[in-house]
Amino acid sequence: KDQSKIRNFCIIAHIDHGKSTLADRIIEKTGLLTSREMQNQILDNMDLERERGITIKAQACRTVYRAKDGEEYILNMIDTPGHVDFNYEVSRSLAACDGAVLVVDSTQGVEAQTVGNVYLALEHDLEVFPVLNKIDLPSAHPDEVRQEIEDVIGIEAHDAPEISAKTGLNVEDVLEAIVQKIPAPTEDAEKPLKALIFDSVYDAYKGVIISVRVREGRVKPGDRIRMMATGAEEEVVEVGYFGAGQMIPCDSLDAGEVGYITASIKKVSDTRVGDTVTTADRPCEEPLPGYKKVQSMVYCGLYPADSAKYPDLRDALDKLVLNDASLFYEPETSLALGFGFRCGFLGLLHLEVIQERLEREYNLDLVTTAPSVVYKVYKTNGEVIELTNPSNLPDPAEIEYMEEPMVKAEIMVTKDFVGAIMQLCEERRGEYIGMEYIEETRAKLTYTLPLNEIIYDFFDALKSRSRGYASLDYELAGYQRSELLKLDILVNKEQVDALSFIVFADSAYDRGRKMCEKLKGEIPRQLFDIPIQAAVGSKVIARETVKALRKDVLAKCYGGDISRKKKLLEKQKEGKKKMRQIGSVEIPKDAFLNVLKLD
Ligand code: GTP
Repeated sequence: KDQSKIRNFCIIAHIDHGKSTLADRIIEKTGLLTSREMQNQILDNMDLERERGITIKAQACRTVYRAKDGEEYILNMIDTPGHVDFNYEVSRSLAACDGAVLVVDSTQGVEAQTVGNVYLALEHDLEVFPVLNKIDLPSAHPDEVRQEIEDVIGIEAHDAPEISAKTGLNVEDVLEAIVQKIPAPTEDAEKPLKALIFDSVYDAYKGVIISVRVREGRVKPGDRIRMMATGAEEEVVEVGYFGAGQMIPCDSLDAGEVGYITASIKKVSDTRVGDTVTTADRPCEEPLPGYKKVQSMVYCGLYPADSAKYPDLRDALDKLVLNDASLFYEPETSLALGFGFRCGFLGLLHLEVIQERLEREYNLDLVTTAPSVVYKVYKTNGEVIELTNPSNLPDPAEIEYMEEPMVKAEIMVTKDFVGAIMQLCEERRGEYIGMEYIEETRAKLTYTLPLNEIIYDFFDALKSRSRGYASLDYELAGYQRSELLKLDILVNKEQVDALSFIVFADSAYDRGRKMCEKLKGEIPRQLFDIPIQAAVGSKVIARETVKALRKDVLAKCYGGDISRKKKLLEKQKEGKKKMRQIGSVEIPKDAFLNVLKLD
């Protein structure tokens, strides 16, 4: 196979600048098959796929473009997710590319993610070139945006195509630029197989489908492959590529190519993103660099709002984990909430995505407890506990000291915002390690920060304080001794275990006060006064009161209109479903997560 005719790239853009629209146009203006492949009749195979109704959300899509030079080029367009929780997946997708098309909305200019994403792409040595989109709009100002790209991001933009992804205007120029500017792979197909896994999904028919970029060697059906990090081995059933959402089998995937492998693998946890695939009988010597085993960063309890739904929740988690190797769960019980699961996530967004999927796809109503990082508790008797659930913290008298997880954070930021970001890091107990200017316009700040300080809203704070011109990458950097306390919340004098959490000692009063205020706003008034208290041990450090309700709900329905009364009672019942009874008080299920979102 002729690698000089292959281009592996991704499209990066700020939200709404037109990434998906451009991807659609590219697919539309190119073909699925090369003329040689057309003759080779693989269409039968495609029909088979269609019959079985396999639709996979492809992370990579292959199309064929006949360029102005008369040659046919294979374009592999690789999709990249867009949030720091999935930064590692993004980095693996970028590692599968050789170049990136940067879409900038020429009515808006350079914005938030634009910069962050470009920095990530440049870190991976990708060839990045800009295109100016939405040129059809009267408010487009391409010349200024061109200048802005050069000034702010520091990449060449004088010859950036001016396009409309919507109307298709000049999209050809983008295709030509991809062919001319993005380097072709030059990799050795005769060496032992070395392929990077950048995505893996579970399919009920085919088992796990892994998306790979072949770096060296080749892979074909019948080969026995080995995942170098997990050690899993299996025989290859099929190799191929995704074209317009379909799986199109082929004879082999060679060095430089992007495609999929199926091998009747049952668990995505065997095929981890970032791992290297090689052949069992002729393995490569070293895996590709950059593999990291994903680790849960945050834990929280997930409980069914209706305790009878516990088995349903278990089944749903069993299914979700098939497709999400980074989701962890084990059963736990809570005094306040009954039977549920302690779950581990990559970050808060991941948590919210899973919660949303459980609620929407599995029709479950969930109560989420306070998210927490994993603390190490050194007890006086020499025992060390890894604490994922704050309510399991031993009696303070038994604790010698505690440690919290730290991260090494690298923040790329344009020079105007360096001061603001340093201030943010200091507020979050960050320890300055260093700063270097990568280019005249952008700096890399390195800090050690407690994971606990960045897990909740650091990313958002970073974005808002830099007006988006900052990107964050972090990795765990061990544990550090710290003054930590458990903050308990009492509602109507009863401790709610699901709301307990660990806090840095100096922040305890502040957090306690804010929690009480927040919770006061979440709990509806009832027929009696409800005290809400925050306590450390037996010491109450903050208090609010939800004042008793004076009027009966039905009092509003003067005249005794039966149907209206009914409706009101019906509504109340509806509301009740979403409440949890804590002693004699009902707490809305969302309150548990909402109170933790402190500003
Ligand atoms: P996310 O998927 O949210 O990240 O956004 P995206 O970058 O993929 O943007 P998308 O392609 O969804 O486009 C955002 C909006 O801009 C849509 O309403 C498009 O129709 C519109 N749009 C995209 N390209 C053009 C263009 O060239 N001209 C005009 N007028 N509108 C465009």
